Amino acid sequence: MCYGDVTGVISLELGAQAPGNYENTPEGYGCYGGVDYGARFVRIFIMDCFLKVYGCQMNAADSHLVSRLLADAGIREVSEPSEAQAVVLLTCSVRQHAEDRAWGFARTMRGLGKKVILAGCMGKLRGNELVREGAADFVLGPDEYRRIPDLLLGRDGSGQGNPESLETYGDLLPATTNSVSASVAVMRGCNNFCTYCVVPYARGPERSIAYPDLERQLRYLLDQGVKEIFLLGQNVLAYRHGDMKLIELLERAARLEGLDRLGFLTSHPRDLSCEMIRRMADIPQLLHFFHLPLQSASDRVLKQMRRGYGLAEYEEKIGWVRSAFPDVYLSTDLMVGFPGESEEDFELTLDAVRRIGFDFAYMFAYSERPGTKAADMAEKVPVAERKRRLAELIDRQNEVTRRRAEGLVGTEEEVFVAAPAPRGKGAMLAELKNYRPVILNHTARLGQRLQARLVGLRGRSIIAEPLAKEVA
Ligand code: SAH
Ligand code: SF4
Ligand code: F3S
Repeated sequence: MCYGDVTGVISLELGAQAPGNYENTPEGYGCYGGVDYGARFVRIFIMDCFLKVYGCQMNAADSHLVSRLLADAGIREVSEPSEAQAVVLLTCSVRQHAEDRAWGFARTMRGLGKKVILAGCMGKLRGNELVREGAADFVLGPDEYRRIPDLLLGRDGSGQGNPESLETYGDLLPATTNSVSASVAVMRGCNNFCTYCVVPYARGPERSIAYPDLERQLRYLLDQGVKEIFLLGQNVLAYRHGDMKLIELLERAARLEGLDRLGFLTSHPRDLSCEMIRRMADIPQLLHFFHLPLQSASDRVLKQMRRGYGLAEYEEKIGWVRSAFPDVYLSTDLMVGFPGESEEDFELTLDAVRRIGFDFAYMFAYSERPGTKAADMAEKVPVAERKRRLAELIDRQNEVTRRRAEGLVGTEEEVFVAAPAPRGKGAMLAELKNYRPVILNHTARLGQRLQARLVGLRGRSIIAEPLAKEVA
């Protein structure tokens, strides 16, 4: 047994997977390998670990890479922290609340005697403080995930490692999945330095991953039955590797066998061009879904945020998107209470929400982030006022979301069955061709495409009933 220094439990799990599925097993980790008992495969696990993920879709995609690193090292992921000897947190620093939650969870886990690795954006930004306060056994940034298995298994006690390293993880494959929808980070980091945002400090400069590495990851997911893939980046329109830009990447990815639905996140409105939209409209697999964070509809505030566009330019681009994709599902991010935001600025945002008619919005109250430009700006909006504006904005957007959903009731649409519904037995989460989520009032096979009638609303969610015929 090569993990002689490990005192954790050894768990055996009988799985139906063939040993050949583990082609990514690093050479030299022989003890992790399997014993083939006919059709059954025995995996030996030497530690149980709970992985907790906070933050954005990039962190969710990273969690699949971390899962792969854990599995390859013989560490089993469990679904309850109580079952684990160790806990790994992939953290987020974008708002104070996200940090507070991770900090609290890490403390509780340490109090229960678990080994705690706090990794991700907060690890990079708050490392020294976290170590000093004893919030975790090890603290790692988003470019140091490869060290997680060794730290868990007690093979590397060197603490914080090299927080200056820059990674793409291009050579890694994500963990195996049963899901029909998946995401792949095609670039990491951000160069934009919007004045409120910690991401460029936490994730470092933009780096794009080479196409051959991406194709390996995409094919790997498609081979497992994934049908829908999102290409991710904090500013995905800035993808560039050699001569390849995002539009060429989308065109090539769409040609991969088995890929039915292709999306991309997150688009910076400044970088969206008419030419790009025109070429996107020629990609049959591309979801008619655009997430274009507006943040604020006041040009004065946008300038202070250093977003690089004004409201008129934003609305012009929405016009291009709508004429190329008349059935587009449009979502955005909005922030209220940025330093200096007046009542008039805020009302411009309220008006824009109604005029533009977003189908969905993520909405936030400004949270002051140490080290960012905005943290030094005078004219802070009082916290209670930020909360009031947020509540009013949410009410306004909910009204718009509902109105836009109501317009679809009574129509027949093709739906893609994406996942079991989180609540309610016998229901499934499905998506229209433009990615709009609906609740399908029936069980159906994951990945199935079928015709459904949109029969009504429950809250703001659209309820769909399948018609008899299956599309695929
Ligand atoms: N890269 C994406 C956004 C990443 S962060 C983009 O540029 O659109 C996701 C969202 O969190 C942002 O769009 C913004 O609305 C919000 N956000 C970022 N920093 C914040 C802060 N300091 N306070 C409140 N919300 C913030
Ligand atoms: Fe943050 Fe702006 Fe980069 Fe988005 S584009 S991650 S908001 S700095
Ligand atoms: Fe949060 Fe880091 Fe994403 S700060 S929003 S997890 S890039």
